[in-house]
Amino acid sequence: MVRRNAADTEARLAEASGLALAIGISVRATHAFRIRTARPATLFGGGQVETIAASLEDEDAQLLIVDGSLSAIQQRNLEERLKVKVIDRTGLILEIFGERAATAEGRLQVELAHLDYQAGRLVRSWTHLERQRGGFGFLGGPGETQIEADRRMIRDRMAKLRRELEQVKRTRGLHRERRQKAPWPVIALVGYTNAGKSTLFNRLTHAEVLAEDLLFATLDPTMRAIRLDGVDKAILSDTVGFVSDLPTELVAAFRATLEEVLLADVIIHVRDISHPETRVQAESVEAILADLGLNIDPNGAEQGLSVPVIEAWNKWDNLDDDARTAALHTRGDGLTICPVSALTGEGVKELLAAVSAALVIGHRIYQVQLPQGDGQRLAWLHAHGEVLDQRELDDQSYVSVRLSDKDWGRFCAL
Ligand code: GTP
Repeated sequence: MVRRNAADTEARLAEASGLALAIGISVRATHAFRIRTARPATLFGGGQVETIAASLEDEDAQLLIVDGSLSAIQQRNLEERLKVKVIDRTGLILEIFGERAATAEGRLQVELAHLDYQAGRLVRSWTHLERQRGGFGFLGGPGETQIEADRRMIRDRMAKLRRELEQVKRTRGLHRERRQKAPWPVIALVGYTNAGKSTLFNRLTHAEVLAEDLLFATLDPTMRAIRLDGVDKAILSDTVGFVSDLPTELVAAFRATLEEVLLADVIIHVRDISHPETRVQAESVEAILADLGLNIDPNGAEQGLSVPVIEAWNKWDNLDDDARTAALHTRGDGLTICPVSALTGEGVKELLAAVSAALVIGHRIYQVQLPQGDGQRLAWLHAHGEVLDQRELDDQSYVSVRLSDKDWGRFCAL
């Protein structure tokens, strides 16, 4: 594995191993190499390649992951020399996205990114072949024709995917509109890869599979309705794991999987509090959220796209008493934290209570006047807010109701 920045080599190695572990690859050995001059043919110097070859043989390993960027030629040369499959960081993250992308849009974006990645490689190996043949491009030849055909196929497939993507986006737009008409607050789970989001998602939704789920199940298996004290229903939405240093060509695919976060009323930031790099992981999650245009607000104040965040300190069961005390000392001011174990269920009740509280904070009392026949909007107010007072006068209903700002916005949009 190779990193340009030597200062945090250890942490980077651990992070890359974590990514590999996340898709079930068992990591036999890790090495850090200083690359003084990148070799066009193999990236690594000759001695370094020997070291890697020996390590692969010692460990009987089947795969080499280079935590950096490889050209198509470097990848192929390394595979030929080492007799194992070689992938780089982009390849690894594409594998993870491919496995995790749950939404239709996410899947399409991932496939698009994959093809883009492949197309780039084809072009490069094509010019490489040209050179091998002495540059007589005008002679044509089987190699060139094949690659031309491959490129056309990829181009066609990409065009088709883009059209499908447009369709999915339109459907999602409609879907969201429909949800805003029957709106419940949205709680988004975000977190560094392997923090335990899916486990927590299952834990939180386990007891209740509501009929309303059917509404989402077909489009999006990562959304579930849950019941919370004082807020009727809410939608819990799981997201793909965050990673630091996301290769730029994957950003679109990643964002597509995160649309729900932008609509969230509350964000649960799931942290693996037992991970030695938990602080660094949390910072990269915060940086990505900020990059998405979210103003993370620990105090729950409403300004712009700011969303209250609750930190779920997951894997609390991994910590002994001393470690728990030490962890609690690191908590920042004004942040809502909930130690939990998605595995054992410890702290989950408290987490749900914190979510309810965050949803209820920011609620205000609104005075609403409706025509008496408007049973639908009246029922909406009863379902989504706390109706404090209701009087009927001159064909009008005067209602005093406590609502969140977001629900007020939704009500106005009805
Ligand atoms: P990505 O999909 O990669 O983002 O991962 P994730 O955040 O959804 O993590 P996932 O739920 O797949 O859990 C990752 C690993 O952590 C699994 O092996 C879980 O069994 C384990 N895990 C999750 N929650 C806990 C916990 O509370 N305690 C312990 N000890 N392990 C946990």
